[in-house]
Amino acid sequence: MDSHTQQLLTARLQYYRDLGIYDFYRREVAPNVSAVEQPETLPISTCVATPDLFVAPQPEAAVADCAEALRLIKEDLGECTRCVLARLGRKTIVFGEGNANAELMFVGEGPGADEDEQGRPFVGRAGHLLNKMIEAMGLKREQVYIANVVKCRPPGNRTPEREEIETCSPFLLRQIAVIQPKAVVALGAVAARCLLGLNEPMAKLRGRWFDFRGTRLAVTYHPAFLLRDPRQKKETWKDLQMVMEYLGLKPRRGAD
Ligand code: URA
Repeated sequence: MDSHTQQLLTARLQYYRDLGIYDFYRREVAPNVSAVEQPETLPISTCVATPDLFVAPQPEAAVADCAEALRLIKEDLGECTRCVLARLGRKTIVFGEGNANAELMFVGEGPGADEDEQGRPFVGRAGHLLNKMIEAMGLKREQVYIANVVKCRPPGNRTPEREEIETCSPFLLRQIAVIQPKAVVALGAVAARCLLGLNEPMAKLRGRWFDFRGTRLAVTYHPAFLLRDPRQKKETWKDLQMVMEYLGLKPRRGAD
């Protein structure tokens, strides 16, 4: 961006700030289809919502301790009513949980009924399968960090809508920025789409690395999908092995 445009943008943002508007979300851009056709790791600059455009200083920016920084993000989220999900039967906001210094982070779609009850991500049937996947990788659940694209349960477990994702995902991006994992695994197409801004089928997204702001990102099937179609577990295990190789993890005995 040239300096004149930057000045104009700064003035415009100051204007919004004076009006008390602090959060800015970028609308989804057209997917860069040619990018996915290349075989190697690719830099992805498109994102449904990017914290680059946040002009208000984020409270966690001044904090070195990751757990404390996550706490500040959670505090900022508060009893969120920023999107309609707050009024559509949500019981609990499911912020995410795990090791604030995790090398590996999993990102799901949104809380289901069990998560909504307990306020914790992936605690239902899909969560049990995710636990098994984590353990097969030679890790404990407490060693990784788990979060979702949206933090409130969509009614009837429907797919979160674009506006809900655009409103909520900046918090996820801030969580990732604080944790700075070595690798992120996007579980399913919704998480992949949110983080990569690509509207590609799973077959084109899984089995390879993406670069997400300097962090490696892999896409694999969502555990809920695997419960419906267990034949895809084999492919999922290949994706996880790719991640394990990068992180230097040995599979739990008997998992291979
Ligand atoms: N499915 C998700 O995507 N996230 C959860 O937390 C639970 C189920």
